[in-house]
Amino acid sequence: MGIPWVQKYKPKKLEEIVGNREVALAFGKWLRDRLSGRNVKPAALLHGPPGVGKTLTVEIAAQQFNLELVELNASDFRTKEAIERIAGGAAMQASLFGYTGKLIFLDEIDGITSEDRGGIPAVVELVKYSRFPVVLTANDPWDPSFRELRGLCEMFKYDRIRSTSIVAYLRQICKMEGITPEDEALKAIAEHAEGDVRAALNDLQMVAQGAKKLTKEMVMGLYYRTQQQSAFEVLRRLFSAKTAITAKMAMEGSLVDFDTLIKWINENIPYQYEDVEELSAAYDALSKADIYYARVKRSQNWDLFKYVIDFATAGVALAKRKPFKFVKYQFPKDILMLSATKEERTVKNEILSKIRERCHISRRRATIEYLPYLQLIFSENPEVGHRIAKELKLSKEAIDYLSGRAA
Ligand SMILES: Nc1ncnc2c1ncn2[C@@H]1O[C@H](COP(=O)(O)OP(=O)(O)OP(=O)(O)O)[C@@H](O)[C@H]1O
Ligand SMILES: [Mg+2]
Repeated sequence: MGIPWVQKYKPKKLEEIVGNREVALAFGKWLRDRLSGRNVKPAALLHGPPGVGKTLTVEIAAQQFNLELVELNASDFRTKEAIERIAGGAAMQASLFGYTGKLIFLDEIDGITSEDRGGIPAVVELVKYSRFPVVLTANDPWDPSFRELRGLCEMFKYDRIRSTSIVAYLRQICKMEGITPEDEALKAIAEHAEGDVRAALNDLQMVAQGAKKLTKEMVMGLYYRTQQQSAFEVLRRLFSAKTAITAKMAMEGSLVDFDTLIKWINENIPYQYEDVEELSAAYDALSKADIYYARVKRSQNWDLFKYVIDFATAGVALAKRKPFKFVKYQFPKDILMLSATKEERTVKNEILSKIRERCHISRRRATIEYLPYLQLIFSENPEVGHRIAKELKLSKEAIDYLSGRAA
């Protein structure tokens, strides 16, 4: 894989930071003022979503100002003594040879609140007494336990990076790597990253490194595979769960959203369960989840969502009577549509919209309940198939597709 592109193309100056350039420069100004003894807040708190340049800003600033970066992480904050020993020590002693001074850096302080609230007063002490500037970063700085700390800090807000800026940045990198990208491919990466430059860059490297061209198809393939892997993992954990709690926990860390997950579960119940009783109990639970879910969405009463999850996970998992066995899970049919090639999509779209017009049903139902049977009819009984094709006024491509003659 070689060196990660987030390292290889890491900006070296504050001016080069994409999207959050202004805020990075403002931080640089604060640091200059702080070092020259001006009357500014003793610490800075850089906050915002992941992968937008917070840590990066601090790393660049330390270099630009020739400061020794003394970095501490959340686990160093377990006890007050620890932070006094490490950071207090660093704060009181002169810096290593060659540096003008030190920059005390507490990256990702969100961890402290959840791990150990006792750590926060220690950080407050450190900020108050350190000779050197202290910089903190956080994704969410609004936790009430940070109140006193926030009062001591100059706040710098980092934003998600706009999709167009990410696209432009990725294009530059493609150029340096000798890759010719389709606009649509870069857009797909940028949109998927939701403002996170690190995620975008990692995805680009994963799919494009070593390639001459980058197409949208390649990008969609990557997302298809990672989603699929994640969903497979959730299903395996869910169906193998022996208790309600482990079944519910199966969803943790899932890359697929709940709506999609329901489709995965729905699709795979018949693969996992063969026994009629099991099948019936599992579908019963899933349909209850579906009913409650519709109610939750209608009433916007999200307190009830936990029951939806209970039915969809614990309900489905505990339908099991026989020991869990490994089976090959299948991709939900209506999602599969999205990963098909463009030609295939066009043909399928034609068939689906004709079914819909004729039968007055939703696209989802047409995809799940009609299309597979139509394919079956075409392979088992071409004559009936052709009568239906005539009735639906299907094109030659659509007929070829349904008869399995085209991809
Ligand atoms: N605004 C940006 N401009 C250019 N590159 C960026 C930017 N943001 C992130 N990157 C790239 O992503 C890498 C990781 O970014 P960084 O560590 O600054 O994220 P962060 O904001 O600290 O996120 P987290 O909240 O997850 O710690 C950087 O080393 C850089 O390669
Ligand atoms: Mg960071």
